[in-house]
Amino acid sequence: MKKTARAHTNIALIKYWGKSDEMLHLPLMSSISMTLDAFYTDTSFERCPKANEDIFFLNDQRIEISKSQRVITYVHRLQNMFGLKEHFRIDSTNHVPTSAGLASSASAFAALAASFAKAYHLDCSLNELSRLARLGSGSASRSIFGGFVEWQKGHDNMDSFAIPINEAPKLDLCLLAVEVDAAPKKLASSVGMKKAQGSPFFPIWLKQNETEIAQMRTAIAHDDFDGIGKLAEQNANEMHAINLTARPGFTYFEPDTIKVIQLVHQLREEGIDCYYTIDAGPNVKILCQLRNHQIIQERLQKVLSHVKIVFAQFGPGITYLD
Ligand code: PMV
Repeated sequence: MKKTARAHTNIALIKYWGKSDEMLHLPLMSSISMTLDAFYTDTSFERCPKANEDIFFLNDQRIEISKSQRVITYVHRLQNMFGLKEHFRIDSTNHVPTSAGLASSASAFAALAASFAKAYHLDCSLNELSRLARLGSGSASRSIFGGFVEWQKGHDNMDSFAIPINEAPKLDLCLLAVEVDAAPKKLASSVGMKKAQGSPFFPIWLKQNETEIAQMRTAIAHDDFDGIGKLAEQNANEMHAINLTARPGFTYFEPDTIKVIQLVHQLREEGIDCYYTIDAGPNVKILCQLRNHQIIQERLQKVLSHVKIVFAQFGPGITYLD
């Protein structure tokens, strides 16, 4: 029995940056994201009761056991939860136009959770699926849904999952993923989050979460592009300020990250509406409107001729391919 699911990755507009439980990936704050059409993962999960080992293929290449521990352990954990025990084969393909610095763990674990649940005929609601995906990677909980999504922090394993805010927004909002550095993350997000908690400003970051979530919900409800962009940029700046002020401080930024930030400031001064957000890496995502994306790309290319830029719009939630 083999089942294949497709999940799109997402970009957080109000970010998850701090855990209350590392094993369960319980967040200290709620987060809001936009699911993206340009980046997705297709994953097949096949039950292999007669096999004598677990097998993981990523982008058509067999991954040796020592390098696939995170994925294999995750599936064992799901199997234990449902009282299942048998060998399996996973075939996962990441569809990313270039490695534009968007984490694939969100789409990867969402697609894996969905294909697993389908292969075992588990009668999971989408909220339950979101909980299962969360156990693989926190941000994966949001990739179960399309459009605008909120991961409600909840209190425990049972009530921490994502819900859709608007799965088919009409809003003119697009994203340019600007890859200033293709190298893998220097500091895994789980490590960065832990270090960030040492910042004296961390309690303030947490305290603001409820207000920022409410403001973002309102901006989304009003199709308010500027409201969404301003808040997303402010929230990203807060997250990166926490990193800089941790003890010891650290940053994901590189010189080219700052160049893109400065260009966004400059474009706004010229009357071209755009905002940036940045995750646990040096790459920048620019939020803009359809009429401006070409001019922004041209200007980016002038400042940083070598950067790769990928254009994305709203993507859908989980779909099944067989
Ligand atoms: O899901 P993780 O463990 O890869 O953490 C994601 C962290 C951020 O991308 C920086 C923020 C977010 O909410 O996606």
